[in-house]
Amino acid sequence: MPRTYQDPTIDIFPSARIDTVSPLIFSGFIEHLGRCIYGGILPATRETFPYTPRKPCPKDQFTETPSNLLTSQGFRKDVLEVIRDEVAVPAMRWPGGNFVSSYHWEDGVGPLEGRKRRPELAWGFEESNVFGTDEFISWCREAKCEPYICLNMGTGTLSEALHWVEYCNGTGDTYYANLRRKHTGQDEPYKVKYWSLGNEVYGPWQVGQQTASAYATIAHQWAHAIKLFDPSVILVSCGLSGLDEWDGVVIDRLVDQVDLHSVHLYTGFGDRDRSQAEKEFGRSVHGPEAAEYALEIARGLINKARVAKRVSKPIKIAFDEYGVWDETVGTPHNGLEQFYNLTDALAMACWLNVFVRQADLVEMACIAQSVNVISPIITGPTGLFKQTIYYPLYLFSKYMRGGTSIKVEVDSPVFEGETLPTWISTIKGKPKLLDVSATLHPKALCVAVVNRSEDTTYTDVPLRIASWDAERVKVGRVEAHEIWHEDVKARNGWESKEEVAVKSSTEEWKGSWTFKKHSFTLLVIEF
Ligand code: AHR
Ligand code: AHR
Repeated sequence: MPRTYQDPTIDIFPSARIDTVSPLIFSGFIEHLGRCIYGGILPATRETFPYTPRKPCPKDQFTETPSNLLTSQGFRKDVLEVIRDEVAVPAMRWPGGNFVSSYHWEDGVGPLEGRKRRPELAWGFEESNVFGTDEFISWCREAKCEPYICLNMGTGTLSEALHWVEYCNGTGDTYYANLRRKHTGQDEPYKVKYWSLGNEVYGPWQVGQQTASAYATIAHQWAHAIKLFDPSVILVSCGLSGLDEWDGVVIDRLVDQVDLHSVHLYTGFGDRDRSQAEKEFGRSVHGPEAAEYALEIARGLINKARVAKRVSKPIKIAFDEYGVWDETVGTPHNGLEQFYNLTDALAMACWLNVFVRQADLVEMACIAQSVNVISPIITGPTGLFKQTIYYPLYLFSKYMRGGTSIKVEVDSPVFEGETLPTWISTIKGKPKLLDVSATLHPKALCVAVVNRSEDTTYTDVPLRIASWDAERVKVGRVEAHEIWHEDVKARNGWESKEEVAVKSSTEEWKGSWTFKKHSFTLLVIEF
């Protein structure tokens, strides 16, 4: 059949290099919330589970985890293995999230018997403080992650923050550096490099909400003082989604004080009465377009501020909370445990496409969250299963990490339905049904393609690699990794662990590929 204008094409430009993909886009986030820390990082116990008498937890949460499933330090081996050996998560953000805004780090260090149990204001539970700074650092060492600590700018003070940095990084003969030595029995500092100045301080849900200008004034003082103590740290300002007025005010004020600007965004269906269920697929898979537009605007805001303040060093983005979250499904009542389907996995692949395409701006991205809480991994007392959204993360990390992001032009039909938010289609422009990113590696070209059409398979789509014909680059085999299921609502669970997983195959490269309806395909084209 002759091709028509409706038939998509993908043009790839290996010489149009965007930037190296930062390995830190595969970072994670663990918060004291639900079963993330207690149940995900450590086994859950009656003492640690963040329940209250008013919100008891199901009894079956407390089946003991046998000690052979734990490391010598008491951490869950299975979760560590996925995080370290499979996804190779490079950095982990902790302790929140909203939790941090009433967290006092000194409650969580020193002998366990002396640790104070505290009311937890963000999620309404109780915090045992069994997992604190020393446990977090030990866990990060086992997981081979860089620790990334978020400071309490809700109930916390600058002096408390300075003490925390001193506790972690102090090398002198001073009180908190010595306290760390006393607790660890070692001289070596923790050398925590990444610190962020508060979490979502703009939000009415936050303990200690502030206006943008009030926040900017205080964060400026904190940044100045923290860098006096340790000029080597990477400081992250608290942003909103990247395109809000808040971001403009904060960036203008802090651009010469910080190293990264953080943004948060979640995508998902988000319809309370679920009467609009037929819109679910389109809204979910196109949602990450909003993040890309916000990043483009944030880039402008940052550069405007850099010009005004003559800041020559680039200020990049820490997208330190992103993911698929339907707040009507993952709620504080169920510890934000959401079960994901194929639609959500496709959205996750689109999220990662955004980070690859914006490689020159996005230095770090932390999936929210790394275990149990709106997460790719769900644990039980003696095992875990991987949700659908795990597989795109795994594939991008395995194949595209360390590559150079290159330009791609896609000609494909567009999505005519309703997007969430609607401005994606009205302002950014109707999303293309094929969502693509590409990376160049020494011996391979990786192309990640999400077919966001719910019902159309695109057959033999040409992937034209610009200039390679003329340069006679000899393309050999292609490895294809595909995530697909006939049913967009298919999901994994304890009984059907691999209902949605990766199917891989290898063949000669013929210059085109067939992208199944509602599928994700990662092609590794060898040359
Ligand atoms: O990840 C869940 C919550 O979402 C975090 O605690 C908060 O920062 C955000 O609102
Ligand atoms: O359907 C997947 C692949 O698409 C086929 O193996 C390839 O020949 C086609 O282009």
